[in-house]
Formats: sequence, C-alpha cells, structure tokens
Amino acid sequence: MSSVEDQIGIFINNLKNAGYELQDYLPNQNWEPGDQILYSGPYWDNQEPTAAISSLLTGKWLSAGEKVNKFEREFSKRFEFNHSVMVNSGSSANLVMIAALKKYFGWADNDEIIVCACGFPTTINPIMQNGLKPVFVDIDWKDLNWNLDDLENSITEKTVAVFSSPVLGNPYDFDKFQDIINTNNLKYIADNCDSLGSKWRGCYLTKNAVAASCSFYPAHHITTIEGGMVSSNIEEVVQLSRSYAWWGRGCYCVGAQNKLPNGVCGHRFDRWIDGYDKDVDHKYVFGVQGYNLKPADFQGSIGSIQLKKITEIHNVRRSNYDAMSKIFPKIPGCRVVEENEHAETSWFGCPIVYEGKKHKLVKYLESKGVQTRNYFAGNILRHPAYKGLDDPDNYPNASRVLDDVFFIGTSPVITIPMIDYIKKIVDEYIKNELS
Ligand SMILES: Cc1ncc(COP(=O)(O)O)c(C=O)c1O
Repeated sequence: MSSVEDQIGIFINNLKNAGYELQDYLPNQNWEPGDQILYSGPYWDNQEPTAAISSLLTGKWLSAGEKVNKFEREFSKRFEFNHSVMVNSGSSANLVMIAALKKYFGWADNDEIIVCACGFPTTINPIMQNGLKPVFVDIDWKDLNWNLDDLENSITEKTVAVFSSPVLGNPYDFDKFQDIINTNNLKYIADNCDSLGSKWRGCYLTKNAVAASCSFYPAHHITTIEGGMVSSNIEEVVQLSRSYAWWGRGCYCVGAQNKLPNGVCGHRFDRWIDGYDKDVDHKYVFGVQGYNLKPADFQGSIGSIQLKKITEIHNVRRSNYDAMSKIFPKIPGCRVVEENEHAETSWFGCPIVYEGKKHKLVKYLESKGVQTRNYFAGNILRHPAYKGLDDPDNYPNASRVLDDVFFIGTSPVITIPMIDYIKKIVDEYIKNELS
C-alpha cells in the first residue's frame, strides 16, 4: 500500500489537472510584467501541504508533539545549537526567551538591556514585559545597524545584556561587538528572526549568543505559516522557555518522551510541591507564571520540509540582493547598503537609501506592481506605544529612516524575469523622472 503522503500528492495533482486554481507557492512561472511582485512569501511546493495534511490526518493529539519535536532537533543541528523549542511566532520566541534568561541569570527588575532604537517592536516589548529596562542606541548611517560606539557608551552598572537584531540580516562588525561584550562581561542575546543563515567570518551570528530567537512568518527565510524558535546551548534556558510557552509547567518532556512512564527526569510522580507530602504529577506542577504559546504539530512537519531548502533559499536571497544592488545605485543619489567584508548575509531584504527622495521612488515602484517595505518602525520611540519612554530626538539617524530608507525583496519568490522587469522600470524612472 502506498503511503498517506503519496496518496495526498496524487490527490493534489488530480485537483490541479482538473483545473482547480490551487495556490502554487513556488516562484510564479506565469508571472507577466505588471503583475504584482511580492517582497516575500512562502517558498513552498506540494511537499509542505502534503506534510501538513498528512500530519492532520494521522496525528493523535495534533498540538505540539512528535513532529514539532523532530523539527526542533533538526533545526538545532542545522544551525549549531544544542537545544531548541518551537513556539507560535517570533514575537513569542522573544517573549519567552527574555523571561527564561531573566530567571536563569537572576536579573533583577529594571536591569538594563541595550537594544537598537530602530527595528521591530517585538524585539523591544519583551524587555519591558519582563520588568527589564530597554536602553536605546542610535543607528550608524552607513550600514543602518546600531552604532557600536554609542552602544559602548550606553553601558552602565545596571546593563546585563545586549539584544542584537542586524538590519535585514546584514551583520555589523561582530569583532568589535564581541570585544565590547567580553570587556564588559555582558550577555549577548540574538533576535535572529531576520538573520537566519547569516554568518560572520564563516560562523553563524548566533555562535556566541546565550540564546537566539527565530521567526517562521511567511516573509522570513523559512515559514511554518506562523511560528518561531528559541535556541540555546544552555539546556536550562530552553527548558525554561518551554515552560513559559507551555502554561508555566515544570515538566519539559516533549514528543515521544511523553511515552516514558516516569518522564525524562525519571520523577514524574514525586513530592514536587513544598508542604504537600504526597506525590504530584510533574505535568501539573507550575514552576513559572507562563503563557500558552505552543504551535500545532502540523507546523513542525512543514518546518522539517522547509529546512531542507535553506541552502537554496540562502543562495537565491544572496543572488537577488546582488541583482538589486546593480539596479538601484544607477539612480543618482541612491545607494544599497553593502555587506561587510567578513559577512555572508542571508538577506531578508535589500536595504535602499535614497535621501529625501524615497517617497517618490516608492510610490513609483508600487504603481508598477513592485512591493516595497519600510525598514520596519523607523525610530520606534516616535510611535504612540512608546511615548514617554525616551526622547526620540536623541536618535536622529533612526528618525531619518522613514524618510530615506526602504527595502525591496530578495526572497526566492522573486524570479529572474521579475528582476529584469524591475531593472527596466528603474531605467525608465531615471530616463523619464530624473532627466
Ligand atoms: C527582527 C524581528 N523580530 C521579531 C519579529 C516577530 O516575528 P513574528 O512575526 O513571527 O512574531 C520580526 C517579524 O518580522 C522581526 O523582523
């Protein structure tokens, strides 16, 4: 008898052959000039839906279980961590990672974590949500990453860690950064949501991090629809992250480990609660005040398929960046942020700086069907949610981002004919709008 997966594959192909318009996630070969060019999207084929449907049809529990656990192990191995826990988003990963690190290292309320003033909100929110204090650093105008001199100057006796998130995956000077971390005895935490696969001197950026987060939202390098991961070489940090994501419970058995009669710890039924001298099931002992941020098991099965494509995705993202970096600097005054000589960037997008003239170019590209994006929030301190936290005027370069910076996709959903089209319309822009 053929496998469930084979039968689902036949079913999907039959639907396609019968003319049903199914979403074909792989680069759209029917794309024609003028059709929209998305900045990113799922780089899927039949394998991902097949794995997901199979998981739904054959799974017993359906919430995070053996498929998720398999993906956690594969992810750890692929990106050189000892341990990982999957959660339902990159934002959730940051939330439980900071909670776990605070507990593991014994940080006190109001201890300080340095973070960039320009970036994504859910890098910053978990610092405050966990009773810690964010200390902001402005960006360097050359690479748009945080200014390392400012970072060094903002260290106080209350600083416990720095929370790094390289702009669109592009590493800054990690040698200098590592020196600052070592000299000041700080912990380096990586928001790796945009930087999966990026390297510095041949090593993943997360090599020296105490923990790293990742996002599997469709815009990111790999996607499980929604999803995220916390990874670390410190087992307890991942166990604590898992606890926070699983209602706060003490038991950290996952997947097949749940079939062990006494769990991984060998003490499933034991005197877990002080002052109660009978055995309690560790599955219902709550060590921290947690949340429920678990993924569904089918998402793990999608993740395992996506992971097999990561090298191809990395290479196409790099070649798409190269193509964009030849097109846009032809516009006088427009530049693409460059890669540092020791970096191998897995580009989340291609950052473009066009001082004072960004809005006109963005409007033009969008009118031609080419999606663009802001570099996220710009100066986060200008947004209503962060009013009163710090004076946004202290971060003048971050404030320039909304006026002068945007990014264009590098995802493998962008094909060579699409790049040729972008080149053509940029040439027309130079000819018609600038001469
Ligand atoms: C740097 C960074 N951190 C965190 C996140 C949040 O990830 P998610 O959308 O999976 O919650 C994002 C999302 O794009 C991001 O770019």
